[in-house]
Parts: sequence; structure tokens; C-alpha cells
Amino acid sequence: MPHWSCLVAVVALITLVTFCVDDAEAQPRGFNYDESKVPKYTLPDPLAMPGGKRVPDAATWWKSQRPIVLKQMEMHVFGAMPPALPIAHVEDHGLDENALGGKGRRKEVTLYFKKDRTGPAVNVLIFLPPKSSKAKGPYPAFLGYNFNGNHTVHADPKIRKSNVWPRKAGSSPSVPDDSTRGRSASRWQVEKILERGYALVTIYYGDVDPDFYDGFKNGVHALYPKYQDRADNWTSIGGWAWTLSRVLDHLETDDLIDAKRVSVIGHSRLGKTSLWAGATDPRFALVISNNSGCGGAALARRRFGETVKRINTSFPHWFTKLHKQYNDNEDKMPVDQHYVMALIAPRPLYVASAERDSWADPKGEFLATVAATPVYKLLGKEGMPATEWPAVGKPVHGTIGYHIRVGKHDVTAFDWEQYLDFADKHLGGK
Ligand code: GCU
Repeated sequence: MPHWSCLVAVVALITLVTFCVDDAEAQPRGFNYDESKVPKYTLPDPLAMPGGKRVPDAATWWKSQRPIVLKQMEMHVFGAMPPALPIAHVEDHGLDENALGGKGRRKEVTLYFKKDRTGPAVNVLIFLPPKSSKAKGPYPAFLGYNFNGNHTVHADPKIRKSNVWPRKAGSSPSVPDDSTRGRSASRWQVEKILERGYALVTIYYGDVDPDFYDGFKNGVHALYPKYQDRADNWTSIGGWAWTLSRVLDHLETDDLIDAKRVSVIGHSRLGKTSLWAGATDPRFALVISNNSGCGGAALARRRFGETVKRINTSFPHWFTKLHKQYNDNEDKMPVDQHYVMALIAPRPLYVASAERDSWADPKGEFLATVAATPVYKLLGKEGMPATEWPAVGKPVHGTIGYHIRVGKHDVTAFDWEQYLDFADKHLGGK
């Protein structure tokens, strides 16, 4: 006979251990998670012009100050980007009018930058509302990277499987077995997005640049090798962001997508990427950064959770060579992360945090939205309406939206509810 109380105790212990391991992974030891230990800091002002005067009007922002801020962010954080390359070949994998049991349409295309189809191949997965839907195209869309392959975003057995790269230098990609199909479905909420009259466009980030430091030999970096011989080198985040713009170039040719209403979305390192894509390409109508933390939405000077030194050490390929000089030296940076938001202004921007994601400094993510607000105001928009950090589960939707929800580092149905409402508000619904 099993002893039930023993069994219950074992299950409780396993749950506790799983929970702790999960949290331990999310919050490495030896970093500051104590608000009272955040050092005093002064943020640089994106509206301070060389010579000390403040930007007097919107025209001056567009003409002289914004280009300076963009250059600063390229030099000190994300790197310069090469010019656009036209897509040389589109391989069409067809349109399935009756996908998801009639709840959607699925299209897949592969984009190549070379006619002979050598070099990077970007596999684009597109879900559209069904023909029967009230919402008629062209559809506004969400465009974002997935971490583990297109086939992981939904259990749909017809999504072509991605070749997945391990995150290790010297490795090569492999086609995973079918067990990973649909594994990240909760992060994508495909049916909900389609029901609300939006399309979803996603690509696997490893197709574009495998996520390890290899001296920028593989992925899209191979297209512009000269861009590495400079202090503001073309980084991995830069490569991922650049390619989001190339996918948008392609969407401009797709009659079923309204390319003027594309929201660029990303989680974590890919939320850092969505911010940079939004900052560098004004065609993105709306920008969403989910749990992006250090080098994303969070203010570096707070040194809460992940630090500049730690991120530069673990992920040297994400930021510029010059960024390394701010290891343990954040106050010397002429910028901070609210500058990337200033570059997105006056377009709608949503920043989301999670309560158990201390590594990403939720409060620092909110404070950056407040610090970017004067630029929104100068450009005639309200920016972030709140000045106090909103309570957990109480979203604020201004021109900048923000929420902190319960739970861990993730993308959830709650997050998507907010993004859909926010997109309805700013992009005029369907
Ligand atoms: C690590 C990294 C973060 C990043 C995250 C992710 O935790 O330190 O900066 O956001 O990975 O992308 O999942």
C-alpha cells in the first residue's frame, strides 16, 4: 500500500525544487535584487543638445537631435547597420486556406538575399484570419522572432520544421524530432490573434544569426563582413533587427498584409531586438518589448539584476565592442536605455515586465518609459501617463503602454490580451 502522505510530500518537494531551480535560473546569484542598494544616478537627457541647450521644438528633434541620438545608440550599444539588401529570391511554399481546422490560413515563404540561394535563408511563417472571418484583409500584423523554430509556435503538423542551432560556437544546426512541435504555443496565442483580426508573422532567430559568438562569420553577417572592422560593429541584435526590416520589405509586397500596421514584437533578447528594430525602422507602426531587461527596456545605471558587465561577458556578440568599456562603468555611458525608446517616439510602444523576473529589473523597465516621455511630449503625444510604478496586474495604456504581471519570465495569454487591446487602440482595430 502506498503511504499517501509520503506521496504528497514527495510531490510537494518536487514542485518546490522545480520552482526554485526555475527561479534560480531566472535570477543568478551575486547580483543586486535589493531596491535600497540601487546607487544614485543621473540619467542623460536625450533632449540635451551639444552645447547644453534643450531641443526647443519637434522640427529640431527630427532635423538635428534625433540623428545624434541614433548615432550614439549605434556607437555605444547596438552597432551600426548596413544598408538594406533587396530580397533576391522568394521561395513560395504555398497558402493553406484551411489551416488550424478552419480557424486560419497559413502561408510560408523562404527569403534569400542571393539569387543562387546561397547564404542565409529566412523562413517566414504567416498565419492569417480565415476567409470566413468578419475581418477582411489586408490585415494588420504582429511580426516577431521565435527562439526554437517556426514549428514550435503552434502544434499545426504542417508548419515546416526549422533547422535548429544549438547555442554553442562551432556547432551546426539539426532538424529536431517532432516532439518540439507546438512547444512554445502558449507564447504565441495564434487562434486568439487571428480571432481579433490580426495576422501573425514569425521567423526563427537562428536562421538569421545563430546565437553564439563566432566572429560574425555565419548568418546575415556574412553578407557585410566589413561591418565588423569598426567600434560600432554590426552586432547580433543588429543583425536580427536588420532582418526584421527585410521581412517587412517582403510584407510590403503581400496583398494580404497591411504593411503600414505592423507591430514588431519580441521577448527577452528578442525584446531588446524589437526595440532596436523599432528605433531604426520608422515603418514599424508599433513596438512591443516583453521582459527585455538589461540592454533592452531596463535602465543600465540602476545595476539591478543583470548588469552591463555580465551581459557583455555572457553575450559579447549582442552589443558593440565599444559597449564593453561600460562594464562596471555605467555612469560613463552617454546614453541609457530610454534613448532607444526616444528613437521610437512618437509611435506607440509597449513595455511589459513580470513580477518574478527580477533579473530583467521590472522597475527599471518602467522607469525608462517615464524617462522617454519628454520626447513623446515634445512630439505631441502623452508617452507614459503614469509616474508611479503601476501595481501588478494593472496595465496602463498611454502612447506608451506598460504592465507588470504575476509570474515568471515568459510571454503569456495575459500579455497578448494587452498587446491586442493596445494595437486596437492605436492601429484602429481591424
Ligand atoms: C539571459 C540574458 C538576458 C536575456 C535572456 C533571454 O537571461 O541574461 O539578458 O534577456 O537570457 O533572452 O532569454
